[in-house]
Amino acid sequence: MARTALVTGGSRGIGEAISKALKVEGYNVAATYAGNDEKAAAFTEATGIKTYKWNVADYEASKAGIAKVEEELGPIDIVVANAGITRDAPFHKMSPEQWQEVIDTNLTGVFNTVHPVWPGMRERKFGRVIVISSINGQKGQFAQVNYAATKAGDIGIVRSLAQEGARAGITANAVCPGYIATEMVMAVPEKVRESIVAQIPAGRLGEPEEIARCVTFLASDDAQFINGSTISANGAQFFG
Ligand code: CAA
Ligand code: NAP
Repeated sequence: MARTALVTGGSRGIGEAISKALKVEGYNVAATYAGNDEKAAAFTEATGIKTYKWNVADYEASKAGIAKVEEELGPIDIVVANAGITRDAPFHKMSPEQWQEVIDTNLTGVFNTVHPVWPGMRERKFGRVIVISSINGQKGQFAQVNYAATKAGDIGIVRSLAQEGARAGITANAVCPGYIATEMVMAVPEKVRESIVAQIPAGRLGEPEEIARCVTFLASDDAQFINGSTISANGAQFFG
């Protein structure tokens, strides 16, 4: 029977490419999103992948949403914690709200997404936890104290989960994308973006599909012994 995969923030950007790639690999896929109903409806229309709406920062909403997915598609074997946001500002200008919103979504959101599926994975003796971290969690980034803290936190999460899950057949790994051509990067002022691209030895932004291929590999049976690792895909911008 086909395994079921949950992709948070799976309706657009990197998550959209991950959802589609997992579907091509034969998984039953559920994609979540936060509020962009129009994009989610267009995504379902184009791909046939079901979408579910909840805020990953809300534990009870995540638990209820995951229960609904499992009722409709079956037990979740693969969870891709991808949903994330930026609220960039130099530290001296960063507000407590900007700090908290990013922590709640990007870091607590990973706990809220993985915690409800973890007991089932332990019972069934199989699971794949894949967290989308970032190059900026590895190297830090001007104006991203909040974001870099969460993305570095992702690496601590998977290294710990890897040790807890290994004997139950569960792997937990992080993917650290460099700068990828999605709305998140397009929101960076053009001049700043140009200077970022100039620092990428590959001379271009990455494509969402290049990250999706890392995820499908980590989800596969072939990746069973890869546990607690980080795959960097950044066009040689940083060696973490
Ligand atoms: N390194 C060093 N100095 C920098 C800098 C950098 N990377 N970026 C800006 N500065 C400097 C500016 O030149 C400016 O200097 P002066 O005061 O001497 O002129 C100073 O810092 C402050 O700049 P601003 O007053 O323009 O700051 P601002 O409050 O308007 O904030 C910003 C602007 C939010 C920092 C904007 O420049 C920005 O968005 N930068 C991009 C940050 C970034 O890379 N975010 C990544 C988003 S994509 C993502 O997160 C995905 C992923 O995982 C890779
Ligand atoms: P994006 O294009 O902005 O898409 C973000 C997705 O996450 C959307 O589906 C969005 O839903 C969802 N989302 C945001 N907040 C949410 C919340 N609170 N609850 C549920 N879903 C939420 O972002 P992206 O560029 O694809 O980034 C995806 C992930 O990769 C993020 O974790 C990001 O930090 C990471 N990353 C990105 C890059 C890059 O260069 N793009 C690089 C490294 C790492 P709506 O559509 O409803 O808004």
